[in-house]
Amino acid sequence: MKLLVTGGAGFIGSAVVRRAIADGHSVVNLDALTYAACLDNVARVADSPNYAFVQADIRDRAALDRAFAEHTPDAVMHLAAESHVDRSIDGPGDFIETNITGTYNMLEAARAYWVGQGRPEAFRFHHISTDEVFGSLPSDPSVKFTEDTPYDPRSPYSASKASSDHLVRAWHETYGLPVVLTNCSNNYGPYHFPEKLIPVIILNALAGKDLPIYGDGSNVRDWLYVEDHAEALLLVVQKGELGRSYNIGGENERSNLELVTTLCGILDELRPSNHPYAEQITYVTDRPGHDARYAIDPGRIRAELGWRPSVTVEEGLRRTVQWYLDNEDWWRALQTRKGVGERLGVTA
Ligand SMILES: NC(=O)c1ccc[n+]([C@@H]2O[C@H](COP(=O)([O-])OP(=O)(O)OC[C@H]3O[C@@H](n4cnc5c(N)ncnc54)[C@H](O)[C@@H]3O)[C@@H](O)[C@H]2O)c1
Repeated sequence: MKLLVTGGAGFIGSAVVRRAIADGHSVVNLDALTYAACLDNVARVADSPNYAFVQADIRDRAALDRAFAEHTPDAVMHLAAESHVDRSIDGPGDFIETNITGTYNMLEAARAYWVGQGRPEAFRFHHISTDEVFGSLPSDPSVKFTEDTPYDPRSPYSASKASSDHLVRAWHETYGLPVVLTNCSNNYGPYHFPEKLIPVIILNALAGKDLPIYGDGSNVRDWLYVEDHAEALLLVVQKGELGRSYNIGGENERSNLELVTTLCGILDELRPSNHPYAEQITYVTDRPGHDARYAIDPGRIRAELGWRPSVTVEEGLRRTVQWYLDNEDWWRALQTRKGVGERLGVTA
């Protein structure tokens, strides 16, 4: 398959690109290279004859039309987005423009291309979204997000992603564009940008800095290893039912405090210090509107497409910590980017 992957220089997009090339697909990676991008993430496949890179902004419709015309993809995997909730609190405008207007541009460019090609039945527009569109769950472990959970986004980030999901469904219903959607829980793993919780904890621990926990650390997230997510996405774009959405999660719920404590234990083993890393844990002001709990019921993708995660959260976290220990050049270069290492998103 020839895949047009947007956001392929980011965390999840690059895992999709690496996996797709390894599986024998051709990939056109379209990315604007914002502060969150790093082309080193795809260095391993950049010399492949099956790989091409286009630097373009999804807010630029003409650039998208050119990319479709030049590369004639069989399917689109749309991951390009502003993705950091804390940044969405400080500057929601970029989230509206990229996540909503940018997705609108992608839909219109894809539709024009698909119509021009004679509306091929096999074409797919796969929109990659988040479980955060469903809002916040109570602590009862039997209650989880299903594909039928009503949308209830509560941050500028999740509201912008929810809007983009609605646009994608509307383009399917109104224009017949062949779409599939996925909503995934929190990802972690190699190449995770050093402003997100897990890399922040690993890198602050190594630097002897405080390990910041928002609020009382009781907020619960469901964690999925990024390479398992990439596998699920490639399955959905090829075999997902037209117009259908799939929730993807690792069934690994952890409170932020539990997660950080586990990371500290792994670091104590792999890079012992003169004190337990957990002594560096510090409680800081909570994020405004911080959702209490997310949990995914992945029953549909498991039953219909046979997908399940390949690694446990303990194994995935261990691999992740080891990757950061082995790849200091990668993360040091990114720590100098604007806002990294600063507390963002406290201005409610
Ligand atoms: N990270 C998670 O845990 C998670 C979970 C579920 C869903 N998602 C979704 O998956 C997708 C990828 O997330 P991520 O964590 O890899 O994000 P990321 O921030 O690491 O990467 C985003 C990529 O998109 C590119 N980009 C941003 N704005 C662009 C624009 N206007 N034009 C073109 N490219 C642009 C960036 O340069 C970057 O390479 C997003 O749509 C996100 O909402 C993420």
